[in-house]
Amino acid sequence: MTENLLTVRGLHKVYGKRDSKFEALRGINLKINRGESVAIVGKSGSGKSTLMHLLALLDRPTKGEILLDGTNTSKLKQRQLNKLRNKEFGFVFQQFFMNANDTVLNNVILPLKIAGVSAKERKRRAMHALTIVGLESKAKNKASDLSGGQKQRVCIARAIVNDPAVIFADEPTGNLDSNTGAKIEEILFSLNREKDITLIIVTHDEELAEKCDRQIRITDGRITSDEDIAEERELAEMAQEEKEERHRKHLSGDMDADGLRDDATVSHVKVKEVK
Ligand SMILES: Nc1ncnc2c1ncn2[C@@H]1O[C@H](COP(=O)(O)OP(=O)(O)OP(=O)(O)O)[C@@H](O)[C@H]1O
Ligand SMILES: [Mg+2]
Repeated sequence: MTENLLTVRGLHKVYGKRDSKFEALRGINLKINRGESVAIVGKSGSGKSTLMHLLALLDRPTKGEILLDGTNTSKLKQRQLNKLRNKEFGFVFQQFFMNANDTVLNNVILPLKIAGVSAKERKRRAMHALTIVGLESKAKNKASDLSGGQKQRVCIARAIVNDPAVIFADEPTGNLDSNTGAKIEEILFSLNREKDITLIIVTHDEELAEKCDRQIRITDGRITSDEDIAEERELAEMAQEEKEERHRKHLSGDMDADGLRDDATVSHVKVKEVK
């Protein structure tokens, strides 16, 4: 598979007709690579969820195309789209779409059932996914009996049970308290790091957006900025490590080869003296 996962060209989405016509997306061009974590940010009504729905092949654009691994998805029939979505994508949305009256296990199993995986294998994989989110002990409970954070974790288990290439998350922590939200974030980012799952997250939460490799800002249906924050973060981390190393050396009284104390302030003074 190629490094590039999604390519979006000239994407437009128009809702409604005549008087109620509204252009929610007005020409989006975008490339997303495998393994990236991408935050889609912007004001309410700017088109974030619309874009995510199109990227996730849950809806079709009015104009433009989306290539998934080089395949032009606009050429695919609905049945093929459904199959592709079920195989490649996992979803974590703010409203927990679950069958409330069914068990946790059956909710997680659903994508595997659709994919035609055998009953035994389905159970094994669903239990594994529940273990990852720390809910194996709740497998037999009714989904409606769980807390909000637990429901969200079941959604994550269901999202990863098919070993997806991408997880789409629309405000995944929006309804949760900050502790539970932090746990959900931790699970999502560890899946990104350890399993190389691409994360595409719509969020209003600045802190969550900062944790992603990349931030795409949508304003009135257009991309108004696209920042690679992973690089900035790496540079900041390197600077911090350097500072700590200097501090450590300073405390232990280490000297540089030239006899100067390896400390920014001291060497700064020295330079001044030489002048
Ligand atoms: N099914 C629909 N029919 C008509 N208009 C729609 C429909 N879905 C969305 N819209 C409109 O399209 C625009 C973009 O909606 P979208 O849901 O993508 O916004 P958003 O950025 O996700 O906002 P929020 O942060 O509030 O979730 C809004 O003005 C909305 O009213
Ligand atoms: Mg939205």
